Amino acid sequence: MLCGCPGVLRTSAAPAAALAAALLSSLARCSLLEPGDAVVSALSPYFGTKTRYEDVNPALRSDPEAPRRDPRLLEGSCTPVQLVALIRHGTRYPTAKQIRKLRQLHGLLQARRSGGGDGEAGGLGAALAAWPLGYADWMDGQLVEKGRLDMRRLALRLAALFPALFSRENYGRLRLVTSSKHRCVDSGAAFLQGLWQHYHPGLPPPDVADMECGPPRINDKLMRFFDHCEKFLTEVERNETALYHVEAFKTGPEMQTILKKVSDTLQVPVNDLNADLIQVAFFTCSFDLAIKGIKSPWCDVFDVDDAKVLEYLNDLKQYWKRGYGYTINSRSSCTLFQDIFRHLDKAVEQKQRSQPVSSPVILQFGHAETLLPLLSLMGYFKDKEPLTAYNYEEQVQRKFRSGHIVPYASNLIFVLYHCEDAKTPKEEFQVQMLLNEKVLPLAHSQETVSLYEDLKNHYKDILQSCQTSEECALPKMNSTFDEL
Ligand SMILES: *[C@@H]1O[C@H](CO)[C@@H](O)[C@H](O)[C@H]1NC(C)=O
Ligand SMILES: *[C@@H]1O[C@H](CO)[C@@H](O)[C@H](O)[C@H]1NC(C)=O
Repeated sequence: MLCGCPGVLRTSAAPAAALAAALLSSLARCSLLEPGDAVVSALSPYFGTKTRYEDVNPALRSDPEAPRRDPRLLEGSCTPVQLVALIRHGTRYPTAKQIRKLRQLHGLLQARRSGGGDGEAGGLGAALAAWPLGYADWMDGQLVEKGRLDMRRLALRLAALFPALFSRENYGRLRLVTSSKHRCVDSGAAFLQGLWQHYHPGLPPPDVADMECGPPRINDKLMRFFDHCEKFLTEVERNETALYHVEAFKTGPEMQTILKKVSDTLQVPVNDLNADLIQVAFFTCSFDLAIKGIKSPWCDVFDVDDAKVLEYLNDLKQYWKRGYGYTINSRSSCTLFQDIFRHLDKAVEQKQRSQPVSSPVILQFGHAETLLPLLSLMGYFKDKEPLTAYNYEEQVQRKFRSGHIVPYASNLIFVLYHCEDAKTPKEEFQVQMLLNEKVLPLAHSQETVSLYEDLKNHYKDILQSCQTSEECALPKMNSTFDEL
């Protein structure tokens, strides 16, 4: 059923205090999200990188631990021999920067209530002013309890999907690598606890440090390659004009429309608002849903059209900073790409020599910023036209939608198979890729499986001629010229 949440209060003429009280009591009644809550489910497809994993895989809402085997996964004469998984951390708190902006907006709303002394400015603005902020600086992007759950459940599903790889015997040979960020280290630990639960149902998991495979190893050069690429840092990250289209869209007509509307709804002068504050209000709607499982009153500020515009604003940033906007964004991930193929190569070699595969499962924990450049490097989700500040309408059907690609706990998995055909004695190796547990057709063939050699051949250039030292080097000044 639908809760009569804040929206209905907007037009009422009752005094602000009474409204706020009514709001809080109505929220107390309906704050736990009812399935199918119309407001949130209308907005949640546009939450971008703050999308819940279960919104991309809706079947998980009813049974989050049941593996859903993609029917396109190979079986029969092909045995999986190695799995390399890149995993984004689970649900997290807002960053300190986001919390600061939210506090600023909240302060604006509260100042309006106490300063004017008028009762007429009630409604949603008053209700939001009375609504506790719920986020503090210390939370700064850390993994939340729901995020640990995301990871434990992913571990349980993957272990059930690839039982031979995640066998009890292989447990000590698991290889975990992680970014140094807390949320990633904690995600790795939660994943291990999920596996423990798989092997020993009902037994409480030991401390990660005491686990057989040891704690995840930190490697930022691999998982946060973007922090170690000088060319990226200079030309994109620290370059004020690199995100030109993001800034232009913030002041463009689509955002202006939302600014005016929100100014009316919240009874705050339009000059006090800006795109960043609007965006943080929208993020808070998504954070309250993902972290607390509630329908936040912040969601009532927006309708679906606003949500689509704010999703585009988020995607624009990802596009120019992590995706196809600049070549260096994706080229900086070559190291990670080559690392994956080194693991696969080694497994193929060991298998050909009839040796056991030394690392049957490799788990790497990182960020949306780790996955997007890699997927771009491999040619995925590329639109014909770039995303710009001026083609919002034309890009409504775009492929590059971060909410579909990198929600919380998103994962890109390479599965290497050893295949033996009874009729022909020739053995061969095949590869499948999974994005968020669904088979991702290969970029070069659109097929759901590829011969390992064909895949390597397709990515020959990246495997052979992409050297981080060269790709990430800043163009040299011509010193010969200087000396003249
Ligand atoms: C910053 O970005 C702009 C736009 O891509 C580019 O023209 C300029 O060369 C960049 N500046 C630096 C220092 O790389
Ligand atoms: C450096 O500048 C000189 C003079 O313009 C030019 O002849 C030479 O090719 C340049 N070298 C490089 C490496 O760009």
